[in-house]
Amino acid sequence: MKRTVIKGVGSFLPENVVTNADLEKLMDTNDEWIQERTGIKERRWVNDPNETTSTMAVKASKKAMAVAGVEPDDIDFVIFATLSPDYYFPGNGVLVQRDLGLKTVGAMDVRNQCSGFIYGLSVADQFIKSGMYKNILLIGSELHSGALEKTTNGRAVSVIFGDGAGAVILSAAEDGERGILSTCMHSEGAFAEELMIHGPSTTHWVDEILAADDPNEASWRPHMNGNFVFKHAITRMPEAINEVLAKAGKNPEDIDLLIPHQANLRISSMVQRHFKMDDSKVFNNIQTVGNTTAGSIPIAMTQAIEEGKLKRGDLLCLAAFGSGFTWGAALLEF
Ligand code: ACO
Repeated sequence: MKRTVIKGVGSFLPENVVTNADLEKLMDTNDEWIQERTGIKERRWVNDPNETTSTMAVKASKKAMAVAGVEPDDIDFVIFATLSPDYYFPGNGVLVQRDLGLKTVGAMDVRNQCSGFIYGLSVADQFIKSGMYKNILLIGSELHSGALEKTTNGRAVSVIFGDGAGAVILSAAEDGERGILSTCMHSEGAFAEELMIHGPSTTHWVDEILAADDPNEASWRPHMNGNFVFKHAITRMPEAINEVLAKAGKNPEDIDLLIPHQANLRISSMVQRHFKMDDSKVFNNIQTVGNTTAGSIPIAMTQAIEEGKLKRGDLLCLAAFGSGFTWGAALLEF
């Protein structure tokens, strides 16, 4: 059977850096609170009106394709994970198919928020292992800043999120070479409303919002029950990591590098502590990019490679938890 290797990784971050001091000018918050509770010092927020979730994705994809040495015609399928698509419909996958000049290959959107990249990786792995596709472009990209309420009212959410995109080229390799060893995906819809954007949606459409004419209407802003999300994240991420380790017959000590979804530095630290891992074995970059949801893992992978912390052949573990709730993990010989 074929195995799936990550042949190339690339990312794109908007230039505009927003520091905690910048946020102090917009809302009643402070650097100490933000750093202590989240670990974040700064994040990127798009300030170019022409930049979108798909344009950032195209830039990240071009970098990943260059690293992998693949041309547009080599791509067999696109998977695009995002919670902040350019349009309500169609999805972003087709925009990337168009803007990268790909053949009329399939383009699928994944709506699993912070776990979107892991979900996409798992799906791509099945397509490649089965022999259906040879090269899949998997993207995680988010433009959060447009939907954030940048006032004291929205401070518990808006200080956390950043914009950015990451992409990987997944390719078929013969069994025995490096590649993905195991993945897992989970969900618990009982908590769907604990971290969500409610509207506009088919259960809360624009005409209803307009008719209510409520100045406090905020259904299009992210709603997050922070403490509740936190508690579930620190339980579910270790569970998922244990699951992919067990499936692959490996132990926590075998992991060379863990890249947790960058939700909150305290969540990453608690997962690290759970497995008694050394600092050198866990990569975090939320300090400078914030939480970029589906973009967070591939953006972190790019940076880890650039810093020499992720090398070919390393046993790499990826894990994520987010809205849905959804969570998952992947274990691979990078
Ligand atoms: N600046 C200053 N004070 C603030 C801010 C802010 N930006 N935000 C909230 N506060 C205040 C609150 O109003 C509250 O004040 P009060 O005690 O007077 O009522 C106080 O700080 C404590 O608020 P909590 O919400 O209890 O703070 P907590 O320690 O839970 O931290 C946080 C909030 C950072 C959101 C935390 O709950 C968290 O990280 N949760 C995990 C959720 C997560 O990681 N989400 C990321 C997205 S998940 C995913 O990736 C989709």
